[in-house]
Amino acid sequence: MDTSFHEPDSKLAPGVGTTHGLPVAVLLEVTHRCPLQCPYCSNPLNLERPAAELATEDWVRVLHELADLGVLQVHFSGGEPMARRDIVELVAAATDAGLYSNLITSGVNLSRERLAALAEAGLSHVQISFQGSESETADRVGGYRNGHAKKLEAARLTREAGFPLTVNAVMHRQNLHQLPEMIDMAVELGAQRIEVANVQYYGWALRNRAALMPTMEQIETCNRIVAEAEERLRGILMIDYVVPDYYAVRPKTCMGGWGRQFFNISPAGKVLPCHAAETITGLDFDSVRDHSLAWIWDHSPALNRYRGTDWMAEPCKSCEHREEDFGGCRCQAFALAGDAGATDPACSFSPLHDEIFRVAETEAAADDMSFAYRNYLTPVPGE
Ligand code: SF4
Ligand code: FES
Repeated sequence: MDTSFHEPDSKLAPGVGTTHGLPVAVLLEVTHRCPLQCPYCSNPLNLERPAAELATEDWVRVLHELADLGVLQVHFSGGEPMARRDIVELVAAATDAGLYSNLITSGVNLSRERLAALAEAGLSHVQISFQGSESETADRVGGYRNGHAKKLEAARLTREAGFPLTVNAVMHRQNLHQLPEMIDMAVELGAQRIEVANVQYYGWALRNRAALMPTMEQIETCNRIVAEAEERLRGILMIDYVVPDYYAVRPKTCMGGWGRQFFNISPAGKVLPCHAAETITGLDFDSVRDHSLAWIWDHSPALNRYRGTDWMAEPCKSCEHREEDFGGCRCQAFALAGDAGATDPACSFSPLHDEIFRVAETEAAADDMSFAYRNYLTPVPGE
């Protein structure tokens, strides 16, 4: 391993300039298998097959490499990380490497016994996703019968086992009317934090955009509800709020900038700057099967491709905000403009901005409720 990676001057890939530091937290997508079928999933449409997943010993090696790099936290995610039979072993390896570990789970197969084993293995935190505030909506969105009841039970067991809990509330046109009840539910469950995450349109969410896109009026109501709850629940529940960017004026600083402070490892071991990066064609992401993480973080051509600001074209190139938002989201630029090097159309300076705003309004008004559920059987367009 290249231990010089920890020296401040050695953090720079040749020719890249002052573009990146050390990632503090890393997302480990240990599998794409999942009992739920959420139509907004950020996983790619081509889900990774179980046979391609990294083996236990690969993940254990990766966890130790992450700690050596200076990473402090890992998020076990997926798909559903509990679908891996070795999840307790992986958490124990993270603990052994000195990493804080978070389990990002649907909760539907989280029993008292498994939670006890995870506690014994040193798991630090649990995050459970909810698709609504009541069974009818939540079970339809998740495509999983009785899922909501199981999640409520899992959240109670999580608190009983002594874990801090985050409720992940993914919001869209079909459940935004339940936001007040979802915030109340998080308080009742004893969660420390709720993520009010409006859907971001990549992967399966892009495929289901017409069924998910909120109206402008819903977003205005959502903003009000979140602001009021933040005030009322100060010291009781922390609220993280993600706004939908089709209605934004400025784009989000996606992932804090491409390859700047975050990465993601796919089930097959590819190191990605974000969960949706594999949707961009023409980029070849390096794998932990072939290189050390230290080498990949510094030298991977795909990570270096959109680092910093040198790659930018106008209007980003001469924009005063280019060091703040790094041109927005590369995956969204690719999905909507057909060019990952374009300005994110969520930005009002993009020539496509008005068009995507109109698309959002039109799709929301049409009110199509049908979902293409996320699973291995739903056909992938163009294949
Ligand atoms: Fe950001 Fe580019 Fe828009 Fe400027 S033009 S605000 S840098 S996305
Ligand atoms: Fe990939 Fe934004 S999700 S850069």
